[in-house]
Amino acid sequence: MPTAPTTFPKDFLWGAASSAYQIEGAAHTDGRADSVWDAYCRTPGAIFENHTGDTACDHYHRYREDIELMRRLGLRAYRFSVSWPRVIPQGVAEVNDKGLAFYDRLVDALLEANIQPFLTLFHWDYPLALHAGGRGGWLNRESADWFADYSRVIVDRLSDRVAHWMTLNEPQCFIGGGPPPGNLPLAPGDRVTLKDKLQMWHHAALAHGRATQIIREHAKLKPSIGYAPVGVSPIPADDQPSSIDAARIAATSVLAPHLWNNTWFNDPILLGRYPDDGLRVFANDAPRVQPGDMEIIHQKQDFLGLNIYHGIPMRMNPAGIPEEAPRPPGYPRTAFGWPVEPESLYWGPRFIHERYKLPIYITENGLSNTDIVSLDGKVHDPQRIDFLRRYLRELRRAINDGADVRGYFQWSIMDNFEWLDGYKQRFGLVHIDYATQKRTPKDSAWWYAHIIESNGAALDDEPFLRSG
Ligand code: FCB
Repeated sequence: MPTAPTTFPKDFLWGAASSAYQIEGAAHTDGRADSVWDAYCRTPGAIFENHTGDTACDHYHRYREDIELMRRLGLRAYRFSVSWPRVIPQGVAEVNDKGLAFYDRLVDALLEANIQPFLTLFHWDYPLALHAGGRGGWLNRESADWFADYSRVIVDRLSDRVAHWMTLNEPQCFIGGGPPPGNLPLAPGDRVTLKDKLQMWHHAALAHGRATQIIREHAKLKPSIGYAPVGVSPIPADDQPSSIDAARIAATSVLAPHLWNNTWFNDPILLGRYPDDGLRVFANDAPRVQPGDMEIIHQKQDFLGLNIYHGIPMRMNPAGIPEEAPRPPGYPRTAFGWPVEPESLYWGPRFIHERYKLPIYITENGLSNTDIVSLDGKVHDPQRIDFLRRYLRELRRAINDGADVRGYFQWSIMDNFEWLDGYKQRFGLVHIDYATQKRTPKDSAWWYAHIIESNGAALDDEPFLRSG
């Protein structure tokens, strides 16, 4: 029997990711105005220990040092986002050249280090001015125009050097505080009805379509365009073939209890329609769609980004209906409490590729861990190495079994502001001491460098002998 390749495809892009509000800091510098996150962080009790992104990793001032670390780790690509209110402080109209100039410098420094920039236009930091004062944010249909104008500014300025674009990050989370019926109180923290959430998504999908048109039409370098939703990954709960069927059905239908699933978000963009079963389930809560909307939303995409951290274990119930299987007590979990389910990087890309047939990038995946600087001055994080090793081996298996995955972005290049959890969660390859801003690459960073260098072959080596 032929053995499966142990390396990843030639030209596979090994990268790491971040987002503007989570790392930049400099919240009140060089003309940047508030986003909904700045305002939300000032609401007492909204964020763990009332942390804010005011300083974060001070990446705005330290980007050179950070890119030098990326270069030393051998990253081939870096996914970052642009802060809309840094570039257009009021969200529309006047452009802040000083803010824009930061992204010029960042992109230039990345290219000098031979690292391909992957630019996300929107990673949650919606301009406060377009939300406050009754303007409504994503609930306002004009959001699509505002976003298109902002996209044009970025494309005009950076598309001579940036070729890879993502419009939106995780709409499942940023619209109206996440999935019903529970409300994850993300900024701006409003309580929103299901009907409004679905309308917000419709507007964000229009914004995605408009931005795609703008990039396609005006980019100077031939663009590669996608977006980065949460890649909800149903996985078989056991090795029964019926459990694989259950997971496949859950991955491709609007199935209670997973209403917030892939198809409701991806079908409009990639197939040009909301899925029928979703329209039935949402019934009167479904969005108002105007003539021509679906054509705007359904723009050719070059790839699909997937942010995958874990799965949803599925099995068939005795009546042959897919159901979520309970996780047993003591199930492995990260410091965040998220389940450790490496198979999600196998089944997620496979199911998604089966349905949409598009090249995929894993745009986020990683582990929050209780990392500390040891007495020897290093950060020993064998859990992260083990986690990544398990997940990446599953990703390699998915590729060997036919999923067209072109790259992988580790979340995150450095510890950062983890939204509601503030600085409590550490996801980075590089440890940040927020009091001093000292950067310390963790053991996992050097291990990841070795994985990159060997194009994945070193995933088969015993890692702990070499770490530290
Ligand atoms: C994702 C977000 C990202 C980060 C990771 C841990 O949902 O896109 O910004 O917070 O989770």
